[in-house]
Amino acid sequence: MILVTGATGTIGSHVVRLLTDRGVPFRAMSRRERPGGVRADFDDPASLAGAVAGVDTVFLVTVPPVPTADHDIDLITAARAAGVRKIVKLSAIGSGKLFDGATVGEWHVAAEEAIEASGLVWTMLRPPSFASNFLRYRALIQAGEPIPNLTGDSRQAIVDPRDVAAVAVAAMTSDAHDGQRYDLTGPKLLTFTDQAAILERVLERLVKIIDVSALDQLPTGMITGISWARAGGAAYVTDDVLRVLGRPAGTFEEWARDHQEALAAMP
Ligand SMILES: NC(=O)c1ccc[n+]([C@@H]2O[C@H](COP(=O)([O-])OP(=O)(O)OC[C@H]3O[C@@H](n4cnc5c(N)ncnc54)[C@H](OP(=O)(O)O)[C@@H]3O)[C@@H](O)[C@H]2O)c1
Repeated sequence: MILVTGATGTIGSHVVRLLTDRGVPFRAMSRRERPGGVRADFDDPASLAGAVAGVDTVFLVTVPPVPTADHDIDLITAARAAGVRKIVKLSAIGSGKLFDGATVGEWHVAAEEAIEASGLVWTMLRPPSFASNFLRYRALIQAGEPIPNLTGDSRQAIVDPRDVAAVAVAAMTSDAHDGQRYDLTGPKLLTFTDQAAILERVLERLVKIIDVSALDQLPTGMITGISWARAGGAAYVTDDVLRVLGRPAGTFEEWARDHQEALAAMP
């Protein structure tokens, strides 16, 4: 039995679809009551016991409103008490790098360290920006308004969230990825301007961008990571998706073509 946390979110919903297609038994966790799912809330640690009962492997997605590893740590505690064997954690690229006197992804690092110290089997997934982040901007794109560029002229190998989910499922359903940390990049380095140009081509409409350099207005947990990426820290490509899935990572253009309708729909 697999517990999928963040099951209604970007990566978790793809994980749920893949596990369903493969007939792998799983339990989808949400803060809301959902058919066939389990209701639990990281803000209510006692609720986690029911979610992990009888579970062998956890896909761990945390999105604490303020940067903290507490949600991860509470899950680890509940998981150990329930006899869970393995945790596959969704972390983020660059976690642990030092930038401008601060640590990128500090709370992800603390969570990863807690998992390593727990004695459980683990796999850490560290993707860069998801291609799907552009769905947040569809109202702006449709209105012809500029979308915010937080990363200046720097390049990133933006990743298709379906690839992150596919690697998560591989890690959960095989022992071959135990103890591995994967930097799950897309196949190509692109600036934000390159990404907007691809969207323009696919959507056949103008996609304007506006540079946002006042990063101190971002949520605290994002400032160091975005500043690090803006300074070029995330400008690298790995073949981790290829090595795990046996096929290359999807391109941003493929993602955009597959999501033309969603990008054109009103949010
Ligand atoms: N976006 C990016 O570009 C990017 C890049 C690299 C790494 N990451 C990492 O990816 C993770 C986010 O993954 P995602 O984008 O797939 O998530 P998401 O789309 O933001 O969805 C969040 C999920 O978490 C659940 N959730 C939120 N608060 C909860 C709580 N208190 N208790 C239980 N469940 C809760 C929500 O479920 P319900 O609402 O149904 O309860 C939802 O399923 C973060 O750790 C982030 O650092 C993101």
